[in-house]
Amino acid sequence: MHAIGIDIGGTKIAGAVIDPDGTIVRDLRTPTPAGAPQLIENAVVEMVTALSAEHDVVAVGVAAAGFIDAAQSTVYYAPNINWRNEPFRAKLEARIDLPIVIENDANAAGWAEFRFGAARLVSDMVMLTIGTGVGGAIVASDTLFRGGFGAGAELGHLRLVPGGLLCGCGAHGCLEQYASGRALQRIANELADAGGIGQNLARVRAERGRLDGSDIAELIGDGDLGALTALRQLGTVIGEACATFGAVLDPQMFVIGGGVAQAGDLLLDPIRHAYEENLSARGYHPEPEFRIAELVNDAGVVGAADLARHFASRLPAGH
Ligand code: BGC
Ligand code: NA
Ligand code: ZN
Repeated sequence: MHAIGIDIGGTKIAGAVIDPDGTIVRDLRTPTPAGAPQLIENAVVEMVTALSAEHDVVAVGVAAAGFIDAAQSTVYYAPNINWRNEPFRAKLEARIDLPIVIENDANAAGWAEFRFGAARLVSDMVMLTIGTGVGGAIVASDTLFRGGFGAGAELGHLRLVPGGLLCGCGAHGCLEQYASGRALQRIANELADAGGIGQNLARVRAERGRLDGSDIAELIGDGDLGALTALRQLGTVIGEACATFGAVLDPQMFVIGGGVAQAGDLLLDPIRHAYEENLSARGYHPEPEFRIAELVNDAGVVGAADLARHFASRLPAGH
């Protein structure tokens, strides 16, 4: 029983046919159209039509970066995409003749890591995806946690700084504003302006006008002190937040994914350090492992397809 997973990201939409072992059988990608939600809908329909023409599939899981309802149908709100009470599932079902579920993108990625990736040997894990936003997934006692209204595990919107920066969700001081890829860019540009550390950071900033994600990734690769300082600040914030999540959830493992996680240990080391500094009952409590996601860019499609397959097999016959 194969299923289709679709992952709608800020820059690209990925789609794949996935087998029950989480292996990609066929994949496609296309740039995310800017503007009206209708254009994203069209792109998803096109992709599902192409993939389902080639392969027998039982369901479609669509991973989307927003607050999803308990029925896995409506995107209540998306901080970084123009979705407000978007009845995404109904719109897709009107055009696609397969069972469809909408999943939170980070939940899908976390589920993939739990089933097939870094966290496959534990029962309780927390995943954070560090990209345009900060996504969260919680697996507790082998079960994906969704909350009462469906939109639980929005870990990026933990309030970190009272009265802090305005977030895309409408609140102030959310973790996302201090720990996302966008936050890394802001911190790096601020460090460049302040001068003092990272000669190259300031030089590239002056040349380009503004340091973007790929400038920073390159500077990190070159070992630029300024870029590494920015990354360390980001990791420190993430580690502090993990200590808070740990107090509530007591996971055996934290998995860190998303584009910024490609920095590997340069990101994990400050996360571990800040976690330990902020740990309650330190020294008297087993410490969780911190790992980089294994499925990297495929986690969203793999997890969305697997969740959709489970969902479809519980549907009454004939649906
Ligand atoms: C959204 C989440 C999403 C995350 C990562 C956040 O801004 O609120 O729903 O999972 O970004 O895309
Ligand atoms: Na989530
Ligand atoms: Zn927020």
